[in-house]
Amino acid sequence: MRIAIIGTGYVGLVSGVCLSEFGHDVVCIDKAADKISQLNAGEVPIFEPGLDDLIGKNVAAGRLHFSTDIAEPVAGADVVFLAVGTPSRKSDGHADLTYVFAAAREVAQAVRGFTVIVTKSTVPVGTGDQLDRIIREANPQADVAVVSNPEFLREGAAIDDFMAPDRVVVGMDDGRARSVMAEVYGALDPAKYPVVFTSRRTAELTKYAANAFLALKLAYINEIADLCEQVGANVQDVSRGMGLDSRIGLKFLNAGPGYGGSCFPKDTLALVKTAQDHNAPIRLIETIVGINETRKRAMARKVEHAVGGELRGKTIGILGLTFKPDTDDIRESPALSIIQALLDKGAKLKAHDPEGMPAARQVMPELDYQDNVEAVAAEADALVIITEWKQYRSLDFTRLKSVMKSPVLVDLRNIYKPDDVRKFGFVYESVGRAD
Ligand code: UDX
Repeated sequence: MRIAIIGTGYVGLVSGVCLSEFGHDVVCIDKAADKISQLNAGEVPIFEPGLDDLIGKNVAAGRLHFSTDIAEPVAGADVVFLAVGTPSRKSDGHADLTYVFAAAREVAQAVRGFTVIVTKSTVPVGTGDQLDRIIREANPQADVAVVSNPEFLREGAAIDDFMAPDRVVVGMDDGRARSVMAEVYGALDPAKYPVVFTSRRTAELTKYAANAFLALKLAYINEIADLCEQVGANVQDVSRGMGLDSRIGLKFLNAGPGYGGSCFPKDTLALVKTAQDHNAPIRLIETIVGINETRKRAMARKVEHAVGGELRGKTIGILGLTFKPDTDDIRESPALSIIQALLDKGAKLKAHDPEGMPAARQVMPELDYQDNVEAVAAEADALVIITEWKQYRSLDFTRLKSVMKSPVLVDLRNIYKPDDVRKFGFVYESVGRAD
C-alpha cells in the first residue's frame, strides 16, 4: 500500500516509520527543507528510543522516503495521513486547525483516483466534516474519504505503542474507506490488537475523552498525595491499594509535580472549549485544568519549605527539565513553571537534563546549565528532581553531600525511599509521603 504522511513532527515521523515497518511504501513529507535533508542524511530530528534504527532499516529496504514535495507522493498514494501540528489557539484555548486545513487544501489539489485522507493529528469533533467541505471546495473532482484515526502513542515509548497498541481507533462515514484502513493495519494481529471501527465523530471524541481521563487520574492522585501529607499517609501505598482493583488499574497513579507534555495540557483545554461550545460543559475537566496549573507553583513552595522557608539568595540545583524521561521535549513541562516560581522567589538556579538542555536553552537562555549532576550540586542549598531520568535513580549521596552547601533533596517523582536518602544525612522531601 502506498502511503503519504504530511508532517514529520513526533506523530507523523513515528507513524510513517512504523507504517513502513508494517511493509507499506511510505513517503514522509515536510515543508521544513532542513528537516527533510537531515532525515535524508540519516539524522533523526527527535529523540525517541529505537527510531533511528528503524529508519535506517526501512530506508535501506527502499520502503521509506522523505520529501518536501507534496504533489507527487500524494498523487501516487492510496492513503494520505495528515499529521501536522494542532497547537492551542492563544486567544481562546481551542485547537488551532490552520495547519490541518492548509495541508488538506494542498492534498486536495494533488490527489489522483480514490484516496483515503486520514487525520492523525488530534482534532476536535467535527473537523472531519470541515475537511470534507474544504477538500470539495479546493478540488470538486477529488474522490476522497476523510477518516479519523487518532494516535495514542506516548513519547519515549512511541514505537512500541504504534507496533503493539492497546487498540487502534478508526472512524469513518464512507464505507469505502473501511477495507483500505483494515489493510493499513493488516500487519497487526486482530486477536491481540483490536481495531475499533466507528463513526468519524466518535473517533475524534474518543481521543480527547481518553487523554482527559488520564489527566483526570493524575490530577486526582496528586490531590490525594496532598491529603496524604496532611494526614500522615503514603500515596504510593494508596495508589497500589487502589490500582490493584482491576476496575481502576495501576497505571497513571504516580503522584508528581503535575502533568505536562504536548498533549494533556492542550487536549484537556480543547475538550473544555468544545464541550462549552456544545452546551455540554465537562466541569470535571475544567477543574483539573486548574488543579494542574496551580500544582506546579505549589511544588516551588515545597522546595522553599525544604530549605527552611526562604529561597532568596539560595542556590537550587534542578535535575530534569523534560516533561518526562526518554524524550528531549520540554513543552508544557512542569519544570518550566517550577523554575519560574523559584526564580520569582529569589533563588539562583543551576540545571541539568540528559536530553532536554538544547530545547531549554531556547526558552530559558539565562539559566546556568551544567553537564553533570555533581556540577549542579556544587555549592547548592538543595537539589530538586523534577524528571525521573534513569541516571537520577542512583545518585552518589556521599559524593553529593561533600560538594553541596547543605544536603537537601526534594524528590518530586518519589524515586527514592526516604530512609535510603536520609541515612546519608540528607533532608529529604517527596510527594504525598508523610514518612
Ligand atoms: C500522552 C498519552 O499517554 C498518549 O496516549 C497520547 O497520545 C499523548 O499524550 P505523552 O504526552 O507522551 O502521552 O506522555 P505520558 O507518558 O502520557 O505522560 C504525560 C504526563 O503525565 C507527563 O508529564 C508525566 O510525567 C505525567 N505522569 C504520567 C505522571 O505524573 N504520573 C503518572 O503516573 C503518569
